[in-house]
Amino acid sequence: MIFSFHRYHGVTMTAASLSGIPHLHQKFDVPFPFVLHTDCPHYWRYHLPGETEEEFSTRLSNNLEELILKEGPDTIAAFIAEPLIGAGGLIPPPATYFEKIQAVLKKYDILFIADEVICGFGRLGTMFGCDKYNIKPDLVTLAKALSSGYLPIGAVLVSPEISQVIDSQSKEIGGFFHGFTFSGHPVSCAVTIEALKIYKEINIVDKVNKISSKFQDGIRAFSDSPIIGEIRGTGLILAAEFANNKSPNEPFPPDWGLSAYFGAQCEKHGLIVRSGGDAIMMSPPLIISPEEVDELLSIFGKALKATEERVQELKSQLK
Ligand SMILES: Cc1ncc(COP(=O)(O)O)c(C=O)c1O
Repeated sequence: MIFSFHRYHGVTMTAASLSGIPHLHQKFDVPFPFVLHTDCPHYWRYHLPGETEEEFSTRLSNNLEELILKEGPDTIAAFIAEPLIGAGGLIPPPATYFEKIQAVLKKYDILFIADEVICGFGRLGTMFGCDKYNIKPDLVTLAKALSSGYLPIGAVLVSPEISQVIDSQSKEIGGFFHGFTFSGHPVSCAVTIEALKIYKEINIVDKVNKISSKFQDGIRAFSDSPIIGEIRGTGLILAAEFANNKSPNEPFPPDWGLSAYFGAQCEKHGLIVRSGGDAIMMSPPLIISPEEVDELLSIFGKALKATEERVQELKSQLK
C-alpha cells in the first residue's frame, strides 16, 4: 500500500494511480487498488470555518493517522508527496503540515518519498523543496531542472538503508533488472553534470531569492481583483485562481473557460502561462531579470483587465 497526496501528478499507470487528479484516472482503469489518497492540503479550499492553518494541518495529520491504523501500518510501504504541489494546482503546504505528517509517518515507520521533479534545484528559493519545508525524505525523485530541461533525464535518490536492501535482494535473484532503454544515457548525463556545475557557479538559489519577492509581490498586488480568489506560491512559482466573490465555493462556470481566456490574452502580448481548471500557473526561468519581471507583471495586468471585462460581459448575458 502506498499513500499519496490528493493532487500529486504523474502519467504512467502507477504514477497516475498515485495522483489524485480525476482526469488522469478516467479511461485508464486507474488508480490501482494498492494506492490510497490522503486529504489534499489546500487550506484555502478545504479549511473549516474559523480553522487556522495549523489546526487544518493537525486535522489532516490526524486523518492520516486514522487511515494508517485502519489499513494496518505494516501494510504501508510509503507516503509520496511533492513539497509544493505542482501540476495539481500549485499548492504550497499549510503551516506545520509536513512537520505533523512526518511525525505520524515516523511513528509507524513509513517511508517518505519526496517528488522534487518541479521543486528541485532552486524553484522555491532553496536547492530542494525538502530544504524549504524541513522534510527528511527516504527517496527523492528528480527530473526537469536536473538537466535544466535541455535533455530528458530523471533520477531517484535513495537512502543507504534502501539501497542496501535493493543490493542484497538483487544478489539473491541474480541482478537488478529494472532499467529503461535509455537509462543512464551518457549525453543526458553529460548535460546534467554541466547544468549542475552551472547552478553552482552562478549560485542559482541566490538568484531566485534576489528576484522572487519582486515577482511574488508584483503579482500579489493584483489580489484585489474581483475575479481572483487566491494567489499562492513561493520563490519562482505561483498560481492565481479565479473565483467569484473570492470564495473557493463559487467557481465560475467551467464553460466560461476563464483561465484559457486569460492565457490567450497573455499569449497575445508574448507571455505563456499554464492554465488548468480555474487556475493559471507560472514558473518563470530561474534566471529571469528584473526588467523581464516588469514586463511579465505588465502583461499579467493587461490580461487580468481583459478577463475582468469578459466576466462582466458573461455575467450580463446571464441576466
Ligand atoms: C512533480 C511531478 N512528478 C512526476 C511527474 C511525471 O514525470 P514523468 O513525465 O517522468 O512521468 C511530473 C510531470 O510533469 C511532475 O510534475
